[in-house]
Amino acid sequence: MKTLKGMERTHNCGELRKIDEGKEINLAGWVSRRRDHGGLIFVDMRDRSGIVQVVFDEATMGEGAFDEAETLRNEFVIGVRGKVRARSIETINPKMPTGEIEIVVEELRILNKAKTPPFYIQDGIDVDENVRLRYRYLDLRRPEMQQNIMLRHRVAKIIRDYLDEHGFLEIETPMLCRSTPEGARDFLVPSRLNPGQFYALPQSPQIFKQLLMVSGFEKYFQIVRCFRDEDLRADRQPEFTQLDIETSFLNQDTILTLMEGLIKNIFETTLKVEVPIPFKRMSWQEAMDRYGTDKPDVRFGMELKDISEFVKGSDFKVFSSVLENGGQVKVINVEGYANIPRRELDGLVEYVKTYGAKGLAWIQYTNEGVKSPFKKFYSDETFEQIKKAVNAETGDLLLVVGDKPSVVAQALGELRLEMGRRRNLIDADKLCFLWIVDFPMFEYVEEDKRYKAMHHPFTAPREEDIEFLLTDPEKVKANAYDIVLNGVEIGGGSLRIYQRDLQQKVFEAIGLTAEEARSKFGFLMDAFEYGTPPHGGIAFGLDRLIMLMAKKKSIRDVIPFPKTQSAIDPMSHAPSEVDEKQLRELYIKSTAKKTVTP
Ligand code: AMO
Ligand code: AMP
Repeated sequence: MKTLKGMERTHNCGELRKIDEGKEINLAGWVSRRRDHGGLIFVDMRDRSGIVQVVFDEATMGEGAFDEAETLRNEFVIGVRGKVRARSIETINPKMPTGEIEIVVEELRILNKAKTPPFYIQDGIDVDENVRLRYRYLDLRRPEMQQNIMLRHRVAKIIRDYLDEHGFLEIETPMLCRSTPEGARDFLVPSRLNPGQFYALPQSPQIFKQLLMVSGFEKYFQIVRCFRDEDLRADRQPEFTQLDIETSFLNQDTILTLMEGLIKNIFETTLKVEVPIPFKRMSWQEAMDRYGTDKPDVRFGMELKDISEFVKGSDFKVFSSVLENGGQVKVINVEGYANIPRRELDGLVEYVKTYGAKGLAWIQYTNEGVKSPFKKFYSDETFEQIKKAVNAETGDLLLVVGDKPSVVAQALGELRLEMGRRRNLIDADKLCFLWIVDFPMFEYVEEDKRYKAMHHPFTAPREEDIEFLLTDPEKVKANAYDIVLNGVEIGGGSLRIYQRDLQQKVFEAIGLTAEEARSKFGFLMDAFEYGTPPHGGIAFGLDRLIMLMAKKKSIRDVIPFPKTQSAIDPMSHAPSEVDEKQLRELYIKSTAKKTVTP
């Protein structure tokens, strides 16, 4: 094998242009594509910066050197010395940034050979994701993946610069922490030095960043890995990265404004798009009413409308019983789609059932009159009233769900998104930022028969609601806020509790006894007694933000080495079984049946 000695590179492949014509240059990189024209070989040569065409010409190179060029295969690593030449008009490739030139090679060095890769190293491949993850080092060599990772770097840099300019300090917090209740399931790490005891990996640095405020750091941030043992989805990984932020003495408005400035800066610098601020703010209740979700995609309309008042008290048992039991009947209007095929309608019924609805009904306002499964139960006039109330026109299709409010919200909210996609109503180039504010402090968890903090239990309740904490928890609103971009929650935060008594009360409201609160969160409660400033902050899901910026569907595409949906790394085969000896040292005995690792 050869080295680059004496032929160290002078340029990057992707940066050469017409003005470089005539320059003697050295390049190093990979063979991306090779075309053999007999006596003339064209190679697309690739490095991180892009691709350039290099030409091996038997006539000018001499036979021996040319023979070597003939052995080149995809993904060989090569160095070339040569001269930049302008391409003739008819061979210019306008699709490549380097398409006006090519390199006439004078010397070739093959630095390393490569086996035939399991998939093409190019953009837009249609390859099973497991294969891509198994050979992630090759997947990451593809230009679009390199772009994603470079974007990630640039965003992190802008974040650091912006926050530094605004007086923030980047401070690290522990990875080996105490396991505390609330939140998702912890990843646990056994302690060898403390037999039978475990650390938890942090779900977020929440408590530590609050303690840093007690310590007087005032403005903290950290780009930090967080760990949650949850069921995974396209936008959820067991380990993910937060931009975590905490401030002292600032009110909610000031915090949101600072963050808007940051987001604007990130998008405008990297994507060169205009981001108008301030972002729209919407109460949680309004979001639920109009979109059925607390992370609405407001790039299109099709809002949920309540038609309960028109359909109540009839012989149509489905609706009347729903309404008698405190439920509601709501619709979305799929404009101009009254002639939806029956087969598609049947499919939609199944679709909403996966979101807990018991059924789906519809009203088709057609030229031949109204069509609806509940037509015979209501007068023509009622259908006209509904049409008017929801601003429908002839030709429109209303999709109807009746159930308890939470089910209606979820089923119709998801159906709205699905119909938005199917009817092509979502503009992929639009950026719709939105703050969701005025969250309820608690949500009732049926399973546990208790209230749980909707954000987390360190979130401050609204001043005027504090008196209802223990008597009427549902009434209490929190000083919490989420930031949503195009229907994805990209961040969330709150003002925090900073008095011991109030913290104690909130723990009580979520069913922690004073004893439990002391044993689990004693260190935080103690800290509150030594002069804690009013404070608040936010955390952004950095992976999600980059995913949206890169227009990807999954955060796995912007994380160098992600896990699969089943939390596995198909490349290194993590997780894996470990030696009995390792377990013994940790005082651990596995009760799991032995599995065969591939
Ligand atoms: P929260 O739990 O809302 O708040 O998390 C903040 C943001 O992190 C992202 N996120 C995730 N991204 C990928 N995979 C996951 N499993 C995952 N879970 C969350 C989301 C989310 O909005 N300590 C608080 C913040 C605070 O109050 O300051 C917290 O962690 O984009
Ligand atoms: P059923 O009485 O279940 O045969 O339903 C009668 C009609 O009402 C069917 O067309 C169903 O699609 C519709 N339907 C049933 N349950 C619901 C519901 N929860 N919301 C809206 N429509 C429903």
